[in-house]
Amino acid sequence: MPQFNTFTKFDTSRVPSPCFVIDRAVVEANLKILHRVQRESGAKILGALKAFSCWSLAPLFKQYLSGTCASGLHEACLGREEFSDEESRARGRGEVHCYSAAYKESDLIEILKVADHVVFNSFSQWSRFKALALTAKQRRPELQFGIRINPEHSEGDVPLYDPCAPCSRMGVPCAVFQQTLKNDPALLDGISGLHFHTLCQQDLPPLLRTLEAVEEKFGTYFKCLEWINFGGGHHISRNDYQVDELIGVLKAFQARHKLQVYMEPGEAVAIRSGVLIAEVLDITWNSMAQAILDTSATCHMPDVLEMPYRADVLDTAMPNELAHTYRLGGMTCLAGDVIGDYSFAEPLALGQRLMFDDMAHYTMVKTTTFNGINLPAIAIWDSRNNELQLVRQFGYEDFKQRLS
Ligand SMILES: Cc1ncc(COP(=O)(O)O)c(C=O)c1O
Repeated sequence: MPQFNTFTKFDTSRVPSPCFVIDRAVVEANLKILHRVQRESGAKILGALKAFSCWSLAPLFKQYLSGTCASGLHEACLGREEFSDEESRARGRGEVHCYSAAYKESDLIEILKVADHVVFNSFSQWSRFKALALTAKQRRPELQFGIRINPEHSEGDVPLYDPCAPCSRMGVPCAVFQQTLKNDPALLDGISGLHFHTLCQQDLPPLLRTLEAVEEKFGTYFKCLEWINFGGGHHISRNDYQVDELIGVLKAFQARHKLQVYMEPGEAVAIRSGVLIAEVLDITWNSMAQAILDTSATCHMPDVLEMPYRADVLDTAMPNELAHTYRLGGMTCLAGDVIGDYSFAEPLALGQRLMFDDMAHYTMVKTTTFNGINLPAIAIWDSRNNELQLVRQFGYEDFKQRLS
């Protein structure tokens, strides 16, 4: 795994601006770590398309992962169309899993044609759609159904990202699970697995604590099941992740409960693999130097405003740490379309290119065209041989087609 940022050697003038550039070498290095975990533990690892769904790299996914997980119909179709083919399915890869907080019937009918695992968020959705699901299974015996559980074990500090926060709508809490099955034990018929998701950008100890809670609260049901999905939020490809220990934990868990474990990390596929390149359009002054870029926080990196977090910009420091400090802002009318304050060793120049780091996961999938701002182009670069492929450029038609 590269321990340094591979983009320090990327020539930003090789792509249009703005542009997401993905380093294939880093994605492959991340996938190799995930593949090692699968190979050595027997657990199956899926890539979460919600975090990163750049399907030009699907051939790499198919080489290393067991499949993809989707949040609904469109991602499930993408997973089936681009990340799954007969050859990979024959090798036990290319699985398509789907979980949604609720399914519309019309979506579910289509999901049941393309997904292998369909996870329901509640027993009410499962009982409503059970007949539909079991009829689909007669046509496609590989279909499996699961229930998302809520272990009510929080590991995150931010409620927005905590599926176990009080009153969360995600998954069935233990008391509701027990009561529902007490009233109607047959409801578990047709269910072959459980799914939970509690983590966000975390390493092994939070997973261990979650497993303890899951085993304690739901362990009695394991004997009726075939698989359990540990969800996402595992930063397995981060340099300090305890990969060897994770392999041991997965092996022991599967042996103890005779369950197939799935994990569905998204970020871990793409961390450190992508940048957003943008260009300085104007430099103005209002109490401090302002640089207006051909990108936008709200359109191209909304997590900067939503999470919020400070994006890393290559070759910059915190305000006033270097000689020249600028407020970096976007092109839109939103007063708060501000990426942040950064200092540079040299003054910025019009037309200068900047690189926002770690923009592959969750950023590419969340872009919008507010104000008619163009979407960033997409390029795949390979830091091993410097090959560059401009995969996609967007324009007026892409904007117009969404609006009427
Ligand atoms: C159900 C589920 N699975 C997988 C993921 C992927 O998580 P991450 O990208 O943090 O690994 C998420 C993220 O929200 C999720 O909600």
